[in-house]
Amino acid sequence: MESIEPLLSALRAAAEPTRLRLLALCAHGELTVSELVGILGQSQPRVSRHLKLLTEAGLLERIREGSWVFHRQAQEGAAAHLARQLNEMLPDQDGTLTRDLERLSLVKNERERAAADYFRRNAESWDKLRSLHVDDSIVERVLLDMLEGHQIDQLLDVGTGTGRMLELFGERLIKGEGIDLSREMLSVARANLERAGRDNCAVRQADMYQIPFQASAFDAVTMHQVLHFLDHPGRAVGEAVRVLKAGGLLLLVDFAPHNEESLRDEHAHRRLGFDDTEVTAWFKASGMSLLKSEHLPGNPLTVTIWLGQKNDSGNSV
Ligand SMILES: C[S@@+](CC[C@H](N)C(=O)[O-])C[C@H]1O[C@@H](n2cnc3c(N)ncnc32)[C@H](O)[C@@H]1O
Repeated sequence: MESIEPLLSALRAAAEPTRLRLLALCAHGELTVSELVGILGQSQPRVSRHLKLLTEAGLLERIREGSWVFHRQAQEGAAAHLARQLNEMLPDQDGTLTRDLERLSLVKNERERAAADYFRRNAESWDKLRSLHVDDSIVERVLLDMLEGHQIDQLLDVGTGTGRMLELFGERLIKGEGIDLSREMLSVARANLERAGRDNCAVRQADMYQIPFQASAFDAVTMHQVLHFLDHPGRAVGEAVRVLKAGGLLLLVDFAPHNEESLRDEHAHRRLGFDDTEVTAWFKASGMSLLKSEHLPGNPLTVTIWLGQKNDSGNSV
């Protein structure tokens, strides 16, 4: 028989002024303890204690990123529903909450500034790479067309970088998740998703060889310009397939085989592109069928898009 205890403890956790303020703030993004300390103007041990109570009650969740921990409104479970409802009930005109949100917007501005700095430092080499292949907008058009008509509620973007795939597909999703190893990239992604108003998308630090989601969690997985960095691209594809539901879609975007050796030194590319035969072999080994591939020629790099579907059994064939 279900007990009322979890609901009672969630209500007790929320029924305190600082904790209600924390709930309100974490509904507007993913925040570290030090950011929350700065906004609330309270001591770190105090804020940490409140966060612990809210997390234990299931109203907030923690996402670890190296030595950092982000807090956000819980996404799943009965208490997540309560957290959403409580936030909807908060008054717009309350002086303390308004001041907290003003301080939060200063924190977000600072994050955007740091992200912009990082981009400025790297922009030149990225622009050079971009000039070697077809325009990103053409690739994105083809990606949108390929997924047109498919029901996709939950999408994972592997090696999300700046979160571009989440921005592109976010509007049609219930939930988008992105993973990447680079904390700097994730800061840029967070700033981009916040600016685009993509509240239904979140990113976290994780290794694509050990994706921190259970099997069969997603309707689609994207890997955009990621595989050429990897020592074991086929293994990364296998791990991506693990988190796909049966019938789920895998969208890979990378270069066709090329001879631009300079990309190894200047951009840390490990592999100089992939052909259809290699990708088909990965698909076969991980229980996928190739639905479609498309080649978008540029000078000198051709971008290839492979769309695969997980077989019903999910086993290799
Ligand atoms: C060229 S970027 C592409 C980013 C994004 N998909 C895009 O197309 O804009 C490749 C990304 O893969 C990430 N990456 C490389 N190895 C990874 C790994 N083992 N696990 C997670 N992310 C990884 C890098 O940090 C980088 O952000």
